[in-house]
Amino acid sequence: MNVSKSSTSEDSGDTMTRLDLFKKFKLCNPLEPSLGIVGFFMTVLLLISCFFYLDYGAASTGLRSRRVPLLGLHFSSSFSPSPLLGGAGVEYLDKEGDGCDLFDGNWIWDESYPLYHSTNCSFLDQGFRCSENGRPDSFYTKWRWQPKTCNLPRFDARKMLEKLRHKRLIFVGDSIGRNQWESLLCMLSSVVSNKSTVYEVNGSPITKHNGFLAFKFEDFNCTVEYYRSPFLVVQGRPPTGAPKEVKMTLRVDLMDWTSPHWRGADILVLNAGHWWNNEKTIKMGCYFQVGKELDMNMTVEDAFRKSMETVFDWIVGEVNMNKTYVLFRTYAPVHFRGGDWNTGGSCRLETLPDLGSLPPLSDKHFKIAVDALSEHLNQSETKYLDLLNVTQMSLSRKDGHASIYYLGPNNTIAALQREDCSHWCLPGVPDSWNEILYALLLKRDTNKYI
Ligand SMILES: *[C@@H]1O[C@H](CO)[C@@H](O)[C@H](O)[C@H]1NC(C)=O
Ligand SMILES: *[C@@H]1O[C@H](CO)[C@@H](O)[C@H](O)[C@H]1NC(C)=O
Ligand SMILES: *[C@@H]1O[C@H](CO)[C@@H](O)[C@H](O)[C@H]1NC(C)=O
Ligand SMILES: *[C@@H]1O[C@H](CO)[C@@H](O)[C@H](O)[C@H]1NC(C)=O
Ligand SMILES: *[C@@H]1O[C@H](CO)[C@@H](O)[C@H](O)[C@H]1NC(C)=O
Ligand SMILES: *[C@@H]1O[C@H](CO)[C@@H](O)[C@H](O)[C@H]1NC(C)=O
Ligand SMILES: *[C@@H]1O[C@H](CO)[C@@H](O)[C@H](O)[C@H]1NC(C)=O
Ligand SMILES: *[C@@H]1O[C@H](CO)[C@@H](O)[C@H](O)[C@H]1NC(C)=O
Repeated sequence: MNVSKSSTSEDSGDTMTRLDLFKKFKLCNPLEPSLGIVGFFMTVLLLISCFFYLDYGAASTGLRSRRVPLLGLHFSSSFSPSPLLGGAGVEYLDKEGDGCDLFDGNWIWDESYPLYHSTNCSFLDQGFRCSENGRPDSFYTKWRWQPKTCNLPRFDARKMLEKLRHKRLIFVGDSIGRNQWESLLCMLSSVVSNKSTVYEVNGSPITKHNGFLAFKFEDFNCTVEYYRSPFLVVQGRPPTGAPKEVKMTLRVDLMDWTSPHWRGADILVLNAGHWWNNEKTIKMGCYFQVGKELDMNMTVEDAFRKSMETVFDWIVGEVNMNKTYVLFRTYAPVHFRGGDWNTGGSCRLETLPDLGSLPPLSDKHFKIAVDALSEHLNQSETKYLDLLNVTQMSLSRKDGHASIYYLGPNNTIAALQREDCSHWCLPGVPDSWNEILYALLLKRDTNKYI
């Protein structure tokens, strides 16, 4: 790492920090510090600084952020965004924050995280409760997302619930969408003291296999819902006369049958991607269909592209844009090393994010979805349609997955054979996606009345 790159102002900031720190130590010491003690502290400080420069500082590319781990650890930072903490002092919610790209940033160590504890949240699948399932480290819960050119507002669950009053927030997509949905349930319910006022409207338990769940926050008359629809389009029986190997088809030109239920959302967060691969379609006998026509030759990529077009046409044609704010969350990267999900791929030894910035992910799911969206970004509906562009920011979080800790401690052997390097531990990375969602919601409200 090239420390000499630090600008003058950065340096003076550093000096201040070390002096303050030094004074702190001095105050704690009832004896007049001898030169030896001073020297000792200086050395320790230097060592500590070096450690964080090398270890955590490198996780972020911004110069500003390097100091933050030090601050965070030594002053157990109560969060107060300031020029010192990155973002150049610009608040995203202020007018100056208008052009800020929330998805371009760094992961910053922050002692005030996580935002909740899984033990206090009853809305989590066992599979996301990593620490309860025996994950020994908790570093992965301590990273905050810091955009490069502005500060995110600190997540305020009560404020978000006020924003959601009388509203429906709906997540639709695959199990990573469920991951994000459960994260938000925990983030929001952390401020509700009477937990019985938060309940599933049909009394259904949180289980992996339920296709639709809606949690009501009674005091706010709002629901936070999840619809399972990994393809977003209709999956059904093949047409009559189809070849024997065709067991199912995906109607890439037709929205999922449950879509009328999501259409009325006030905020709709869609995602797709993880199921659009050969394993989960063609290899399982699931082919693609347009209208009555089965197209045995259509590739998964073409099918995904067509389905994305169907989704965006549906948004433009069917969703009431005066009411519904639609967000599309991009593909969340997986981190299997030395194999794939079913061939022994692993991520269990990862305890830190990737150091430094990574080259952009050339993921076809990401590209297809974004290309389809871009065509619509030109049109007038743009202001109702936003991208939760989480792909790149999540790429460096190889430490964030459930790995072998998606099963309880008694199932280690089973878990070792098949790790989960696609879902995320909670608390964890999806909380950061939701903090950005929160920021976008607040920003949208401030802009609405200008
Ligand atoms: C998504 O974010 C990454 C990282 O900032 C950026 O490189 C990419 O261009 C963004 N994509 C879109 C479509 O906004
Ligand atoms: C949440 O859980 C943590 C650890 O399990 C505990 O220390 C803390 O007191 C709990 N907080 C609340 C508000 O229940
Ligand atoms: C609760 O919110 C719904 C909209 O989701 C609204 O129709 C209804 O009137 C609200 N109920 C109360 C008691 O305000
Ligand atoms: C908690 O909420 C439930 C459901 O609304 C209610 O029946 C109960 O009285 C409340 N408990 C307290 C202590 O307020
Ligand atoms: C599908 O591929 C087969 C063999 O490559 C070809 O004979 C057939 O004409 C193709 N059908 C369509 C509809 O493109
Ligand atoms: C949306 O609002 C615009 C302008 O207020 C209005 O002209 C249009 O009819 C509304 N559309 C719907 C579907 O309500
Ligand atoms: C936006 O529209 C213009 C003109 O219609 C076109 O040249 C441009 O490629 C479009 N951009 C995108 C991202 O589709
Ligand atoms: C794990 O196994 C031990 C011993 O067999 C048992 O006492 C414990 O209850 C089990 N824990 C869980 C979570 O099943």
